[in-house]
Amino acid sequence: MYQALSMLPIKSYSQNQFAAVQEACAYFFPPKQIFDISFLRNIDRSILDDVCLRKKKQVQRIIKGRKQGGSQDKAIYYHEKMRQAYVLLSSAVNGDFPEIKSDSGPKIIAVGGSKGGIGKSMFAANVSVFLAQKGFSVIAMDLDLGGANLALYLGEKYILDRTINDFLKKKYPSLEDIIIDSSYGPKIIGGDSSELGAANIHHAQKMKLIRAIKGLDADFIILDLGGDTSFNMLDFFLLADHGLVITTRDSASYIGSYQFIKTALYRKINRLADHLDDAERDLDPQLSTVLKKCTVANGQPMSQTIVSLLDRVAENDPFDLPQVLKSIIGFKPHLIVNRAPSLLQANQVAHTISDLAKRYLSVRIGCPGHINKYPEIEDNLSNNAPLVARDPDGKLAGEISVIVTNIGL
Ligand SMILES: Nc1ncnc2c1ncn2[C@@H]1O[C@H](COP(=O)(O)OP(=O)(O)O)[C@@H](O)[C@H]1O
Ligand SMILES: [Mg+2]
Repeated sequence: MYQALSMLPIKSYSQNQFAAVQEACAYFFPPKQIFDISFLRNIDRSILDDVCLRKKKQVQRIIKGRKQGGSQDKAIYYHEKMRQAYVLLSSAVNGDFPEIKSDSGPKIIAVGGSKGGIGKSMFAANVSVFLAQKGFSVIAMDLDLGGANLALYLGEKYILDRTINDFLKKKYPSLEDIIIDSSYGPKIIGGDSSELGAANIHHAQKMKLIRAIKGLDADFIILDLGGDTSFNMLDFFLLADHGLVITTRDSASYIGSYQFIKTALYRKINRLADHLDDAERDLDPQLSTVLKKCTVANGQPMSQTIVSLLDRVAENDPFDLPQVLKSIIGFKPHLIVNRAPSLLQANQVAHTISDLAKRYLSVRIGCPGHINKYPEIEDNLSNNAPLVARDPDGKLAGEISVIVTNIGL
């Protein structure tokens, strides 16, 4: 029997390559197949050429005005993008697919979760110290606007001379002006939650802050977030190159972590509807309406799964599918189980969450490692130095090292 030689070696792809393949597939295949790894793996030359020919004919009929119901302008744009997608998939099928480099500039890592008290700040502080010990320049930033305490976890005083509030209130013109040094390696941008309403920054302030964070000069910027799913917190999480979600093993925490991942993804799609991201092309107002209906409850049921959401997009206008899909792929949060006595127990939680995310959100969650429960952290009454600074070769440093390696930082 004929056996196709060239199929997509999905397993050997980096995250960037995989995302590029999925994005290209959005021009040819329905949503369900784009998230189906075994389907993608089986794409060969004949499947590709076949589907491309069929799609090309459909789009050309719209361009030539022979088919009603489609916009010619959109079809011309789609036709060109489809050609580019074909070229990419074609070289992938030939086994000739170069690595896609990530953008240069600082790597932004957000540490989030749905609740307070689960170890976000502890982890953010220790991972910052760990990376600084390795020789990287690190800025640890406290974005828990309502409960700022990251500086404390880094061994500094609770009340700082300069904080984010000073930047937001224009006392200092740039974020660089409020950076302070710390004793254990990372630099700090601290918060101050002592003022009523400090957490409720408005949209323009948030956008200003996001732009300033992206412009900071460092190897790593670690964002310690508050434990809620407000739009502000989700937008800070989405700004990162790597989103880390912390959970503990109790059910309220890990179910909350799934909800956090879900709301972050829906917010990502919702941002598209609100034109908050730099889009290649203006969004169709009709698509905007569909996306809002699918992502925000407003008394109506939202889409239960991402595939059903994408199906609704495609029903409205198949030409919109790649643009929406582009905002979804590449969303790969990492789940870190804190206070877990063993890898086995951490994995039970991680599997539950990653199964749910795969089934309902079509999202692959990374589970790069876990953190044990440490009496040295829990009962730390006198020594304020982060544990990784106190014991650079200790067990916590080892666990963080595994996490950092598995994420590929
Ligand atoms: N792995 C751990 N072992 C022991 N204590 C921990 C651990 N992680 C966090 N803690 C403790 O739990 C409390 C809450 O942690 P924190 O980092 O402030 O949570 P969050 O930032 O999520 O609100 C703190 O007292 C912290 O020292
Ligand atoms: Mg905290």
